[in-house]
Amino acid sequence: MRISGLLCFGALAGVALASTETGIAKRSTISEILTDIEDDATCAACEALLVVLQALAHLGNDDFVDVITEVCILAGVDDDDVCEGAIAREGPILAHDLRNMDVPSKTAVLFCTTIFGLCDYPAVAEYTVDFPSAKPANASRPTSSGETPLQIVHISDIHVDLSYETGANYNCTKPICCRPYTSSDDPGVTDYPAGEYGNHNCDAPLTLEESMYSAINDLVPNASFVIFTGDVVEGAVWLVNETEVTNDLNDAYNSRMADYFDLVYGVTGNHDCAPVNSFPPADIDTTISSQWAYDTLSSDWSQWIGSTAASTADDYGAYSVKYSGGNLRIISFNTNLYYKENFWLYEKTMEKDPSGQLAWLVDELSAAETAGERVWLMGHMPMGSGDTFHDASNYFNQIIQRYDATIAAVFYGHTHKDEFELAYSNYTDQSADTASMMSYIMPAMTPTSGNPAFRVYSVDPVTFGVLDFTEYITNMSSSTYQTNPTWEKYYSAKETYGSLLDPPVTDSAAELTPAFWHNVTVLFENDDSVFQDYYARKSRGWDVSECTGDCKTDEICQLRAAESQYNCVEITPGISFKKRDAITTRDTSTNPRESTCGESVVGQMFSSFDNAVEALIKATETKLGSGFLNTTVNATIS
Ligand SMILES: *[C@@H]1O[C@H](CO)[C@@H](O)[C@H](O)[C@H]1NC(C)=O
Ligand SMILES: *[C@@H]1O[C@H](CO)[C@@H](O)[C@H](O)[C@H]1NC(C)=O
Ligand SMILES: *[C@@H]1O[C@H](CO)[C@@H](O)[C@H](O)[C@H]1NC(C)=O
Ligand SMILES: *[C@@H]1O[C@H](CO)[C@@H](O)[C@H](O)[C@H]1NC(C)=O
Ligand SMILES: *[C@@H]1O[C@H](CO)[C@@H](O)[C@H](O)[C@H]1NC(C)=O
Ligand SMILES: *[C@@H]1O[C@H](CO)[C@@H](O)[C@H](O)[C@H]1NC(C)=O
Ligand SMILES: *[C@@H]1O[C@H](CO)[C@@H](O)[C@H](O)[C@H]1NC(C)=O
Ligand SMILES: *[C@@H]1O[C@H](CO)[C@@H](O)[C@H](O)[C@H]1NC(C)=O
Ligand SMILES: *[C@@H]1O[C@H](CO)[C@@H](O)[C@H](O)[C@H]1NC(C)=O
Repeated sequence: MRISGLLCFGALAGVALASTETGIAKRSTISEILTDIEDDATCAACEALLVVLQALAHLGNDDFVDVITEVCILAGVDDDDVCEGAIAREGPILAHDLRNMDVPSKTAVLFCTTIFGLCDYPAVAEYTVDFPSAKPANASRPTSSGETPLQIVHISDIHVDLSYETGANYNCTKPICCRPYTSSDDPGVTDYPAGEYGNHNCDAPLTLEESMYSAINDLVPNASFVIFTGDVVEGAVWLVNETEVTNDLNDAYNSRMADYFDLVYGVTGNHDCAPVNSFPPADIDTTISSQWAYDTLSSDWSQWIGSTAASTADDYGAYSVKYSGGNLRIISFNTNLYYKENFWLYEKTMEKDPSGQLAWLVDELSAAETAGERVWLMGHMPMGSGDTFHDASNYFNQIIQRYDATIAAVFYGHTHKDEFELAYSNYTDQSADTASMMSYIMPAMTPTSGNPAFRVYSVDPVTFGVLDFTEYITNMSSSTYQTNPTWEKYYSAKETYGSLLDPPVTDSAAELTPAFWHNVTVLFENDDSVFQDYYARKSRGWDVSECTGDCKTDEICQLRAAESQYNCVEITPGISFKKRDAITTRDTSTNPRESTCGESVVGQMFSSFDNAVEALIKATETKLGSGFLNTTVNATIS
């Protein structure tokens, strides 16, 4: 908690959270609380706001959704219909949270940190993950076999929009365009007609998805299999429902991928559900269930992973399966259980291991270690990113450190950027010697954050260590893109960095070890042009800006943080990015880690705190009359 925030808050009339330690609960009207905190975007003010939101939630979901929708509209966060659709979906989950929350509490502070950006991150609650056996003293990463490498394809974040219309307006005011939202957006009417193969303001048309899969088959005919790190569904989160998500998942997995590829290993993305990000852990008592999404994913994946693995996938969207072509186990886990935008996780007493997934992961890794198998661990959200709870990331990292000789590498998507994350056995002593695990982060196919891309890993067929990867892109700025998109090699990791290291790493049989990647980050520090080229590749050469000073320091800090408490992400009230032009501005902002994926509308609403509080006062008055504002509540509700 910020000291200055507390001091400032203590001076406020009427509300006195700081005095709760003495047991005196001050009572005030909601109107007084809101007036007091209006000009005070602090942690304590945020907690006081939660008291008000909680009182609102106790009126029931309908009133809660009504008022918050009005706030969204009044604060000008999004178009009215986006506010209405998004809050109708997010609102009941948030209201459930608030009704069960203690204010003040660690959960309340965490909520004010991750959603409103107004509190400092609470310290990690220490917890020692239980392992069936200690790490063997001789555990070590096996050396490369030198045998002919396999090729394995990585794709991510396809976000296919089956409602994309060629000719529809690409310059709309909504989070994604290229749909005829209104008649003036219609093909033939709009001045901004979308091309056949996509636009950077829109999620991907089916033509782009088909083009990429076809290119993969042409360019990598001998690929052993494809890994897909999640997010099938498009970003019109204010409209998605169970019917659409089910249809999107079935279309991508059963109609498209199954058509082009023999073997695909998928993961559960945060968009692969409705409402978006809504994945209640098993212990939550609610009628809003994501079981149907797990049912659909499990059924779609069973053609590749078999019925045993499919049945775990049906429990919580994760599975473990042996690859039949070699000594490799694929473990796909559900990162939504650690994602800050999954509102179900803000429980009264937050669970250390939601749905028991970490214990399951330990069991699977332990069995793989005993069997002498190598493991590829796959998830959607990188566990070191600013989107991941510090606590969960710490517990997960204990598992990575314990099994770092068994896990060959970790694979993620979600950020839409070409980047990576390194784990260290000791984060205060980051070096090639302590670098212990590499996480490969695959950029998106959807064009919203850059040129569409896929990757091909060159992989040791015995150790399954990654020897290199080659990234392919299609350049949307090319004059022939909209008639005939072509896919070309963009760069290879080993070609780009290997010869610049000391000693050089150019042998095709040499693994790209965690130490190799640590040395690449040192190269970034020492050779700025290599770093700027890396930075340009994050968006695959689209809309490139320079990254210097804090931007560069923070970027390298994030590359060296597979545990999120070390990632240097600063907690700040977000830029109030709204509507189309501001979203474009945000993409080119200097904050390199800003996730463009799955941000809640509620979080965006309160990123301009005084504006939102003022809107809340007006909205409650309009929707509920002055009676609610006159209600007396305790500044702390136990
Ligand atoms: C570690 O030692 C055990 C027991 O001596 C042996 O079975 C195992 O193969 C060794 N593992 C490695 C990676 O050398
Ligand atoms: C989008 O439309 C606005 C006017 O509504 C115009 O000023 C702007 O230049 C357009 N943007 C693009 C990328 O065409
Ligand atoms: C694919 O494998 C076949 C047979 O092993 C080989 O002849 C061919 O050159 C390979 N193609 C590519 C593109 O690597
Ligand atoms: C789901 O969304 C689609 C597309 O927006 C809509 O046509 C359909 O009526 C919705 N279904 C339900 C059950 O709400
Ligand atoms: C981690 O590194 C720091 C700095 O070198 C050192 O002081 C500390 O003892 C190390 N921790 C462990 C657990 O080895
Ligand atoms: C990393 O750099 C260190 C120090 O420069 C060097 O000793 C080591 O061999 C390098 N490791 C790799 C894998 O490049
Ligand atoms: C894409 O094409 C444009 C236009 O030809 C060119 O300026 C740009 O450098 C290309 N980008 C990449 C990554 O090749
Ligand atoms: C709320 O308080 C205001 C100011 O004290 C008063 O004018 C208004 O009538 C009250 N409203 C209700 C419903 O009690
Ligand atoms: C508010 O505080 C008073 C006095 O401490 C207490 O009696 C009352 O139960 C509290 N109300 C709520 C809703 O917690």
